[in-house]
Amino acid sequence: MSLYSKAKIAYYSGTGGTAMAANYFQRYLLENGVEAAMEHIMDGRSVENTAQDLLILLFPVHAFHAPAAVYRWLNSLEQAPGTHAAVISVSGGGEVSPNTACRVSCIRGLEKKGYRVVYESMLIMPSNFAAKTKEPLATLLIQILPNKVKNAIDALLSGTVQRSSPRKADLILSYIGRIETYGAKIWGRFLKAESSCIGCGLCAKECPSGNITMKNHRPQFGGKCHMCMRCIYRCPVKAIAPGIAKFVVLKEGYDLTVPSQEEALISFQNKEEIEAGSLFAGVIDYLENK
Ligand SMILES: Cc1cc2nc3c(=O)[nH]c(=O)nc-3n(C[C@H](O)[C@H](O)[C@H](O)COP(=O)(O)O)c2cc1C
Repeated sequence: MSLYSKAKIAYYSGTGGTAMAANYFQRYLLENGVEAAMEHIMDGRSVENTAQDLLILLFPVHAFHAPAAVYRWLNSLEQAPGTHAAVISVSGGGEVSPNTACRVSCIRGLEKKGYRVVYESMLIMPSNFAAKTKEPLATLLIQILPNKVKNAIDALLSGTVQRSSPRKADLILSYIGRIETYGAKIWGRFLKAESSCIGCGLCAKECPSGNITMKNHRPQFGGKCHMCMRCIYRCPVKAIAPGIAKFVVLKEGYDLTVPSQEEALISFQNKEEIEAGSLFAGVIDYLENK
């Protein structure tokens, strides 16, 4: 008999990495006989306050904490005394400084609503911000994701309690990182659609902050941007570009296409030959620790 019968997976995702992880959580919960409903967190979408015995919250790490939309979602959540919760962060860099405190505010938010947070962990997906995750690391991260989620589900369903202690300095940096919320709003105001824009409106339809409106078949950018990068990477003609801090966008674009069978043969045997770069040292640890 499983510890849980009805779970909810609530997730925010900019460019699809966290959404991919959330889908695996749903799949493995269902395979274990646990009902698993999904809730996609988006500004302007009201919170679905449903009863469940396990809440799994997933979010991408933005500047060492969760995107502001996640905190707004937490504020609107109803009290659920004693309900178990798991908090899963998804980052490009892994459980290294200063990321180690990225779940603290969400955990506090859930505790304020009466939840008992029994599990927390970090997943890693290819980075969508400033520094690209080199190959073969990016492919390996996508390949290992199902395994990592399976391990988390096994731990949760067997009643394992997993909580971490963030480093003190990281707590401060995570707090400072909140400035990013304001920076994102300014950055978003400077986004522009270049002349190659075909006016398809996909960016406006998919923006998780409702920050893009179409006027005369051209996107207009407001002051509510989350800097999630979705509009930039998903634009079919790559017509959206930042006006400031251009370095945050990966020149090569961002794509999480699941590798083909041949590529799936990539292994992690020659670790020494993999050029990760110091920013991605945590990724190597994560891949080694299957
Ligand atoms: C604005 C922004 C800030 C980010 N900050 C961090 C960070 O502090 N640490 C980190 O490891 N990754 C950071 N990342 C990378 C993302 O956490 C990572 O690529 C994640 O997989 C994206 O998930 P998504 O595809 O669901 O949006 C950042 C990404 C963005 C867009």
